[in-house]
Amino acid sequence: MSKEYKEYFAAHVAEMQRRWTTALDAENLQAILVHSGTPLISFQDDYEYAFRPNPHFLAWLPLTHHHDSALLVRPGKKPCIFYYQPEDFWYLAPADPEPWWADHFDIQLVNQADGWCTGLFSKLNGGSFGIRDVAAIGDAPSLAGTFEDDRINPRGLVNRLQVERTRKTPYEIACMMEASQLAARAHVEAESAFREGESEWRIHQRYLGACEHTDAQLPYNNIVALNTHGSVLHYQGRDVAVPDPVRSFLLDAGCTVNAYASDITRTYAARDGASGEDGFAQLVAAMDTMQQGLIEAVRTGLDYRELHLQAHREIAGILESFDLIKVPADDAVATGLSSVFYPHGLGHFIGLQTHDVSGLTDNEGRAIPPPEGHPFLRLTRVLEAGNVLTIEPGLYFIEPLLRQWQENGDAAAVNWDRVEALKPYGGIRIEDNVVVTETGSNNLTRQAFATL
Ligand code: GLY
Ligand code: MN
Ligand code: MN
Repeated sequence: MSKEYKEYFAAHVAEMQRRWTTALDAENLQAILVHSGTPLISFQDDYEYAFRPNPHFLAWLPLTHHHDSALLVRPGKKPCIFYYQPEDFWYLAPADPEPWWADHFDIQLVNQADGWCTGLFSKLNGGSFGIRDVAAIGDAPSLAGTFEDDRINPRGLVNRLQVERTRKTPYEIACMMEASQLAARAHVEAESAFREGESEWRIHQRYLGACEHTDAQLPYNNIVALNTHGSVLHYQGRDVAVPDPVRSFLLDAGCTVNAYASDITRTYAARDGASGEDGFAQLVAAMDTMQQGLIEAVRTGLDYRELHLQAHREIAGILESFDLIKVPADDAVATGLSSVFYPHGLGHFIGLQTHDVSGLTDNEGRAIPPPEGHPFLRLTRVLEAGNVLTIEPGLYFIEPLLRQWQENGDAAAVNWDRVEALKPYGGIRIEDNVVVTETGSNNLTRQAFATL
């Protein structure tokens, strides 16, 4: 793969420096110390939980498993990293810094976990400001020994940095494109495994093999769901037994590149065409067409809440045309019936976090609530160029939600015979990752599948 992102890294660091300098000025601070994090050890044990660095640290540096390192950012100065590289024989120590990223930083190697602190004070002693002028960003317990509470993750500063993270640089988009390409390749392998009659567990192994990820490198736990498991929105099992018959397959799985995520869902019918499918394959095709239509509406200035509501109207239309409901689509939306079949939000920001930051606030950090009756929507903003987000409408046959509607809602509005016929197929979700542009969007996911 090309590693095209390296070409954009110098400009990315320059842009990060510009953004953080602006944030420091606005918050009347002189410097920021970003700590990468410290591994957490399980209770009364000596094993660590899987470690993920602080995303504010990863926004500067492609150091995806570096703990106890810290970055010092000051206006007008090359950012300085205290790079923790212990001499160790129990664990593999971090490799030497690589020039493609390291050339843009002042690198100070430290061999103690608190080496960053000594390094920080040596920088302060040579400067004109003190520790009260420095904010710390991170969750390492050791920060509390150096910084007063009001200087650790100050809300105003964190909000500014998070808002900036919604505007992806070309480096970040190149990382996400590569994460999409890796995931697309692995999705194709997983589909082959499904067609060959493999179990969820085997499909998952084939996915990991195709993208050469460990489980810990995935952006989130893969959702590998055969048949009714597709109706469990974050299904976490990995059955080793293959159901009989196999009817459907829903795969929600991504990859990471330099910690930037892709988040892709595809749904397949075991057999195409009408025979024996109860219309499921056609339902998948209708959802796919509808999802691409929604993406055509994405552009700068669009209120994402409106697109979520449009998705409800369109899914209700599909329910009506597939004879799953007996009321007009508009009524199904108005009464909440569409939420029985589509209970989650249309999508979310994506980046260093799968569910990336600032989706529910405006640029000043004020909450933008989701529309009434849609509590699970994770993105309520007006879109800007450079935002990267998912579009992931779904249609499911979820036993507890259907039962609640039958008991407490307008039971006559549902065609229960058709619902019963489709229940064994679980559900459908189609999810792509798109970059917002001034005039439309770039669909990273469809591009990635197209270039395989
Ligand atoms: N894979 C989690 C999500 O789609 O949000
Ligand atoms: Mn998603
Ligand atoms: Mn997903």
